[in-house]
Amino acid sequence: MLFEPIQMRSMSVRNRLWVAAMCQYSCLAEDGMPSDWHLVHLGSFARGGAGLVVTEATAVVPEGRISPRDAGIWNDEQVAAWQPITRFVKGQGARIALQLAHAGRKASDSPPWGYDGTGTVPADRGG
Ligand SMILES: Cc1cc2nc3c(=O)[nH]c(=O)nc-3n(C[C@H](O)[C@H](O)[C@H](O)COP(=O)(O)O)c2cc1C
Repeated sequence: MLFEPIQMRSMSVRNRLWVAAMCQYSCLAEDGMPSDWHLVHLGSFARGGAGLVVTEATAVVPEGRISPRDAGIWNDEQVAAWQPITRFVKGQGARIALQLAHAGRKASDSPPWGYDGTGTVPADRGG
């Protein structure tokens, strides 16, 4: 059944191969804006045949990010930046879901790589 479509209320998904949410820590400007990185990362799963692609944990407020390099959806510019990504994924015949996230007491951690610092991000660096 892995390659059979599945119906969920009004939404049909072409198969049951779904990509789990995976943080990328790749909003290098630390503004929560999804970029070409996210387009290629998520788009390649859709191009490869996944039925549904889940975005990384996407913060609903800046202070709710796991790290300063998380993606966000707390302003209209971010909404607009997600649109080419959702358009491409849908254009490949896949579905896309956005994982809304708030990291709570685990927020403001340092990104695990490519970052000058470890542990809790201080407030003067956006933590
Ligand atoms: C690189 C990486 C990033 C991840 N980021 C997220 C995330 O943003 N949100 C989330 O809920 N889980 C995240 N996870 C956890 C995966 O979604 C989790 O491994 C998966 O749901 C487990 O599925 P499994 O039990 O079938 O292995 C991440 C895992 C990896 C490896």
